[in-house]
Amino acid sequence: MRKPMIAGNWKMHKIISESVALSEKIKNTLEKNVHVDVVVCPVFTALNSVYSVLEDTDIGLGAQNLYWEKEGAFTGEISPIMLKDSGCEYVIIGHSERRKYFSETDEMVNKKIKAALEIGLTPIVCVGETLEEREAAKETAVINAQLEGAFNNIDINDMGNVIIAYEPVWAIGTGKTATPQQAQQIHQFIRQWLTDNKDNEVSAAIRILYGGSVKPENIKELMDNEDIDGALVGGASLKAETFAQIVKNAKEVI
Ligand code: 13P
Repeated sequence: MRKPMIAGNWKMHKIISESVALSEKIKNTLEKNVHVDVVVCPVFTALNSVYSVLEDTDIGLGAQNLYWEKEGAFTGEISPIMLKDSGCEYVIIGHSERRKYFSETDEMVNKKIKAALEIGLTPIVCVGETLEEREAAKETAVINAQLEGAFNNIDINDMGNVIIAYEPVWAIGTGKTATPQQAQQIHQFIRQWLTDNKDNEVSAAIRILYGGSVKPENIKELMDNEDIDGALVGGASLKAETFAQIVKNAKEVI
């Protein structure tokens, strides 16, 4: 059985003091939850401070991006080893905002995944179609291409350390969630892709999270579907009460 995961993507929100306060509140609000993996992904500058708050808990720490080189003359970038050094176990890769605003390609996503796996960071790899692509009925073709690009030449043995997040771009920050049926259909498509292109074992083991306007009110009906193993939460992860409520509601589905 796949252990559910609820991950909070704080995006470019909160200075260090605010990040520390939020992580302390999350730590104090969450019950011990052995059945749900909980992860928070603050901005780079707050990673190590949040790590100090969470290091004695089960709550994991993730970054929102990395660069694939170990070190060197790459002004403004941050390497996998630097994230490890800050206390990270996870890293979000290929978020649609990075693809859109920073021109990240599937090839770059692939390099980033390889670099993360090499150092022992668990990549949370994001895929998802835009509204235009969905309206043109191209969503599965788009996701197929993103999966092929992202997981090109990634060893089956490494795939067990990967998490995938399906985030339809039209549902991010819009309040417009995919229906549980729409989400399940794509999650099933992704799992089938894993069976066809990797193997059955990988396909059965990988956690596929849904992201896009997840709230305490809709997490249960999303997670009631067989292939939805949790959520990558944006806006609703910025308040301890709502984030904790999402975790709590997710737990009730198990
Ligand atoms: P929202 O939950 O704010 O829609 O954001 C989703 C997201 O992009 C998580 O990575």
